[in-house]
Amino acid sequence: MTTPDRPVATSRYPAIYDRSIQDPEGFWREAARAIDWIAEPREIFDSSLGVYGRWFVGGLTNMCHNAVDRHVDAGRGQQPAIYYDSPVTGTKRTVTYSELLTEVRLLGGVLRDLGVEKGDRVVIYMPMIPEALFAMLACARIGAVHSVVFGGFAAAELASRIDDARPKVVLSASCGIEPNRTVAYKPLLDLALTMTKNTPTACVVLQRPQAEASLKEGRDHDWNALREKAATGGRWAECATVSATDPLYVLYTSGTTGKPKGVVRDTGGYMVALRWSMEGLYGVKPGEVFWSASDIGWVVGHSYIVYAPLLTGCTTVLYEGKPVGTPDAGVFWRVIEEYKVSALFTAPTALRAIKKEDPEGKLMADYDRSSLRTLFLAGERADPDTVEWAQDRLSVPVVDHWWQTETGWAIAGNPIGLGALDIKVGSTGVPMPGYTIDILDEGGHPAGPNKMGAIAIKLPLPPGCLPTLWRQDERFRESYLTEYPGYYKTADAGFCDPDGQLYIMGRTDDIINVAGHRLSTGGMEEVLASHQDVAECAVIGIHDALKGEVPCGFVVLKAGVTRAPNEIENEIIALVRERIGPVAAFRIAIAVHRLPKTRSGKILRGTMKKIADSEPWNMPATIDDPSSLDEIAAVLSARGLSKASAA
Ligand code: COA
Ligand code: AMP
Repeated sequence: MTTPDRPVATSRYPAIYDRSIQDPEGFWREAARAIDWIAEPREIFDSSLGVYGRWFVGGLTNMCHNAVDRHVDAGRGQQPAIYYDSPVTGTKRTVTYSELLTEVRLLGGVLRDLGVEKGDRVVIYMPMIPEALFAMLACARIGAVHSVVFGGFAAAELASRIDDARPKVVLSASCGIEPNRTVAYKPLLDLALTMTKNTPTACVVLQRPQAEASLKEGRDHDWNALREKAATGGRWAECATVSATDPLYVLYTSGTTGKPKGVVRDTGGYMVALRWSMEGLYGVKPGEVFWSASDIGWVVGHSYIVYAPLLTGCTTVLYEGKPVGTPDAGVFWRVIEEYKVSALFTAPTALRAIKKEDPEGKLMADYDRSSLRTLFLAGERADPDTVEWAQDRLSVPVVDHWWQTETGWAIAGNPIGLGALDIKVGSTGVPMPGYTIDILDEGGHPAGPNKMGAIAIKLPLPPGCLPTLWRQDERFRESYLTEYPGYYKTADAGFCDPDGQLYIMGRTDDIINVAGHRLSTGGMEEVLASHQDVAECAVIGIHDALKGEVPCGFVVLKAGVTRAPNEIENEIIALVRERIGPVAAFRIAIAVHRLPKTRSGKILRGTMKKIADSEPWNMPATIDDPSSLDEIAAVLSARGLSKASAA
């Protein structure tokens, strides 16, 4: 089924994509003209630098200048930069580009006065409020490297990020607001700081009226008091000169162990790629309103709540709420009407939540959605039912596009700005400029059309993608570059159809996607294994109609444990919430007598998942004892989680 807004023949995509592959330096040199440089790059790409080369070498610039100051200089000062809409607090606020400039200059001054210098790290642990954006941009302004930590993580996750990033300062707020509770951030921050080896010199806390935090003499500072002091003292920070290859931020993401990976984002390449994507991929022009209903704790939030819309001179919507329940399933349509949103970017799970509450889409009729031209989806597989539901009711193209924290922007999508291609429901579109994508078979050779395989991107990665992991070049090589020489391993599996459209079918590692949130089952297994009564365990992601996947943990208890299994299961559920956080949505723990294994002792997680997902499965030839899988099927079925049987 197709919903092109223009006939395919008029798309400029084929010519533009080919150019980006045949003449990458020429292509990106031209794209870089949309950015203000203090000094033009000496070289567009230097393959001798870094792990696989570096983009825009010798270029000097500043992200905050490009995202804020230049728009004020160009006369956009009175244009809204941010529409903050918070149904969870009943607050709305418009921040113009001029006001944004004032705030980032002041906060930059505050950070400088706290001793933050170019290259120092600043951890930002904040909810979806304008001050979080001021914080990110203020860091960019003075050349500090920010690391934003999502509010749904537990203290231990915050601590591990603080230990890896070693920030000089932590910027936080007293609380975040979830529909069912107020999440006091400060006690979590205090707890995290009791666990870290590295202590920041200062914590700056924005007091929110919903839960004020107590501040520790000496270390903690009141955000507004410092802001006032900077304002009265004229402590403004101007933009530092930053190299294109300097890091703008480190964003931690789940790896295949409990230790998160610090994805490094450089400054110049990221600016150029994001700026290109706003018009080329999203079809959005300066002055228009862009809404990414994500969270600043995730890469989508970094790129498309903050940097890309502001680089483009758009107005970004900062939404502190949920797709449903704040107050109802019509809230997305209300926001579109109120701010005249041109493009909405969200996760399929948000649409599934809306569809569940309002299957007929009746609430859409209450709002004028005529400003909306395109709906973009990413973060997890978009199931065709949901895409078609949205397409039919919204009457706009619904574009699924694929990307990762590591890439910072889309690897594949439908280039709306170049002229839409056919939308094939189930596909994530075609490669974006600079990405050469191959589907590799088991031998690491390119597979033909429609053949499933491991998806790999030819090196070098285009601008915007990670140059390395934070202070871990070797881990970067091992995790991504070693298995398929000459390629970046995406750890996603899928296929490409004869028209070059990609289909992403799942991960090849232990990562699962829960409500659009990326989580490591390996990390959860580490937590389960740490429980005193657990001998061994396995965590798998099982299908969930709303969240796409949810984690399901199996534990074998130690011999001699006499306590009731359900008591231990509840403790395990609480432990995951305490160590990883509520975002893990870990609610299913099942005590079993044994785990199904191969004769060499490998746990058959893949087959367990098929059983749980009620998919047909074959008895693995190498299984140690076939009845062990029947036991898993029986226990899942007893809990109402599966009805599958062996094929
Ligand atoms: N701070 C603190 N806690 C948070 C949080 C945050 N920023 N975000 C989520 N949580 C908590 C939730 O309150 C919930 O806690 P609970 O167990 O006490 O209920 C838990 O983490 C699980 O959250 P979630 O998986 O999001 O489930 P939910 O039922 O609260 O909401 C959806 C379901 C579908 C509405 C929601 O997941 C959603 O909007 N998803 C879209 C995600 C997205 O945009 N991802 C970005 C990719 S582009
Ligand atoms: P994250 O790093 O949190 O953005 O998660 C990246 C992972 O999410 C990818 O490796 C995919 O497994 C999955 N993902 C992201 N976008 C899509 C999509 N459009 N379709 C299918 N899976 C996706």
